[in-house]
This record gives sequence, C-alpha cells and structure tokens, in this order.
Amino acid sequence: MPTRVLVVGAGAIGAFFGSRLATVPQLLVSAVCRSNYQTVKSNGFKVDSPWYGKYAFRPEYIFASSEEARQTMRKQALKWDYLLVTTKVLPEINDDSKLLEGLVDDRSSIVLIQNGLGIEEAYRRRFPNATILSGVTVVSATQSEPGIITHNRWTKTSLGPYLPGDASSHDDQNLATASERTRLFLELLKKAGLADAESYDHAGLQFVRWHKVAINSAINPSSVLTGGCGNRALAIDPELRIHLRGVMDEVFTAASKLQGRQTFPFDELKLAKPDQILASVEKNTSGSRPSMWHDWENGRRMELEAILGNPIRIARAEGLDMPRVQSLYALLRMAQERRNAAEDKSKL
Ligand SMILES: NC(=O)c1ccc[n+]([C@@H]2O[C@H](COP(=O)([O-])OP(=O)(O)OC[C@H]3O[C@@H](n4cnc5c(N)ncnc54)[C@H](OP(=O)(O)O)[C@@H]3O)[C@@H](O)[C@H]2O)c1
Repeated sequence: MPTRVLVVGAGAIGAFFGSRLATVPQLLVSAVCRSNYQTVKSNGFKVDSPWYGKYAFRPEYIFASSEEARQTMRKQALKWDYLLVTTKVLPEINDDSKLLEGLVDDRSSIVLIQNGLGIEEAYRRRFPNATILSGVTVVSATQSEPGIITHNRWTKTSLGPYLPGDASSHDDQNLATASERTRLFLELLKKAGLADAESYDHAGLQFVRWHKVAINSAINPSSVLTGGCGNRALAIDPELRIHLRGVMDEVFTAASKLQGRQTFPFDELKLAKPDQILASVEKNTSGSRPSMWHDWENGRRMELEAILGNPIRIARAEGLDMPRVQSLYALLRMAQERRNAAEDKSKL
C-alpha cells in the first residue's frame, strides 16, 4: 500500500515539500489548493531549484478545498498517512486546524511546517489523540505566480514530536508512536533529497522554533518598519545591527529561562549563535527581503501572532517581559489594523 501525504495549503513551502516527497518511491502526494487551484489542476506545479533543477510536480489528487478532500476521501476510501500543513499561520482570522476535520484518523500524523511559536496547540486541542509532528524549515521558496515555485536556497528542515507537558502526561504507547513517526517522516525527507533534515525530541524542536523566531522577530518586522530594508542592509547598518542583536538576545534569554536553562543550547543543538547569524545575513548579497515585507507590500496579513505575539504571551505567562519584541509587535499590529480599517472603509 502506498504512503499518502496530503499537503494542506499548497503555496511556496507546501508545493516545494510536496514536490520533493513525490519523488520517493511508493509515496503519493495530493494537495489542497486555494487561489492557485485552477492553474494547478490544469498544469500541475513547476519547480525551479538550484539543488534539484527544473521539474514538474503533479499531485495525485488536487482539491479546491479541504471539503472536497473529505468528499473524495469518503468516495475513494482514501487514508492519509501524513497531513502536511503549510498554510500561513493567521490565528486571528482562521483556525486552520478546522481544515483537517474528517481527514485525520488513527494512522495519520499531522505535520506542521510553519514558522512561529505555539502553532501546534490548536491542532492538539482539536485532535487530542493524533500524533503531531512539529517542523521548522529554513528553505527559502516563493510562488511567483500560481503553480510556479522557485526554491531559492537552503534545505535544512528540523522535525520533532509535539509532546508538551512532562513525560507522565503521555502514555508509553503515544510516546513510542510519536517518536517512530518522527523517524519515518525524517527518513522520507531524506529520501526526498533533503539530506540535512534532522530530528529532535519535543524540547529540542521547541528550541529550534525559538531559534527561528529569534531570527524572524528581529529581521522581519525591522524590514517592514524601515520601509523594505533588505536582510543584508539591516545587518550592515551599525544601529540596526545593534537592534537585531538586541532582539535576538532577548528571545534567546527568554527561551532559555522558560526551559529552565542558564543559556541557550546553541552548541548542543548545532544552532548558529547571534554573531554567526548576523555574519551569515551580511554575506547574503542576493538583495533578499523577508517574507513579512512581501506580505506587507502586497497588502496581505503578516504572521504577527505566530512570530511576535505568541512568544510575548508565552513569556509573559511565566512573568518574563520581552520589551524589544513587544514594541515591534505593538507597532506593527497597529499599522496592520489601521491599514485593514482603511481598506474596509474604501470598500464602502
Ligand atoms: N516561503 C518561505 O521561504 C518560508 C520559509 C520558511 C518558513 N515558511 C513558513 O511556511 C509557512 C507557509 O509559507 P509559504 O511561504 O508557503 O506561504 P504561501 O506561499 O502563502 O502558501 C500558503 C498556501 O496556503 C494556502 N491556503 C491558506 N488557507 C487555505 C485554505 N483554507 N485552504 C486551502 N489552501 C489554503 C494559500 O492559498 P492562497 O494563495 O489562496 O492564500 C497558499 O497557497 C508559513 O508559516 C511561513 O512563515 C516559509
């Protein structure tokens, strides 16, 4: 029996991962699309990658909505081994865990490859018995037009089971299933050509999330608030460099305290330290800007809650303040609200 993956939210990241997994023998990938549905239904995806070359990816089933996926699943008696969720995380407007209603069963694992913190909780609440695998990727990919995916750089992807609370809150069977499914999905990623994919335990993966959040919360809002400064330009400006460093340090300090550590486990988890991150950003001469800037520039909602709001709230609940991140969040959230209100008015 083939392994079946359903990509929910087949944009840049979903189509990239779907297209790689589709190269694994005995693995069939389907996709839930939205605005790109008609084009993908007619032509499939076209992917261009410096690693994997130019290739076409035609999902086994292409659905216009998760409702259509549910109906087809019933008619064809399909089962999904992996529900790979790659939507943007916008909890203030959508609870995307709802999209998976009726698609999850005992054999399915929910795999979340998305940025931000606290993104797994809605899925855990809705599907308390399901295996949830949390994924963080540094892949840089874009969908320049419907169905046209450019993989720009990097492949490193980190994966771990989502098992919050202490070990006594999970029975041995659940722990064993979650770690076995993490191992199996990691193996699929490697077979799909993502040679540097790595797995962690729950705590390790959450540190990886905090690490990505540190980078995203420093660079992304700063690009928007400076009117579109590129990554490198932010890192080489002396004052902005101090600011980026300050934001990252604040996040790393909060993450360490929350996990009861003196310091952030950079070496243990083989994660770049702030100076190495800044040096790497400085070396990137591609002129790239963070996705949050592109979202803002194109009038789309930014992932403010997952990247800024949730970390602040998680820290605050434990009595920790993150004043730099909080300022960025407060300013951008209001800028977004004002723009949305102005747009709503202009529609009247
Ligand atoms: N792109 C990157 O380089 C990158 C790198 C690392 C991490 N990430 C993270 O990965 C996640 C996905 O980012 P992305 O860049 O791939 O975003 P994206 O290109 O906007 O893809 C998201 C896709 O989900 C679709 N979608 C949203 N709601 C849906 C629904 N209800 N039903 C069906 N489809 C739905 C969107 O459709 P519409 O087009 O209709 O909105 C879009 O095609 C984010 O958390 C992001 O921060 C991205």
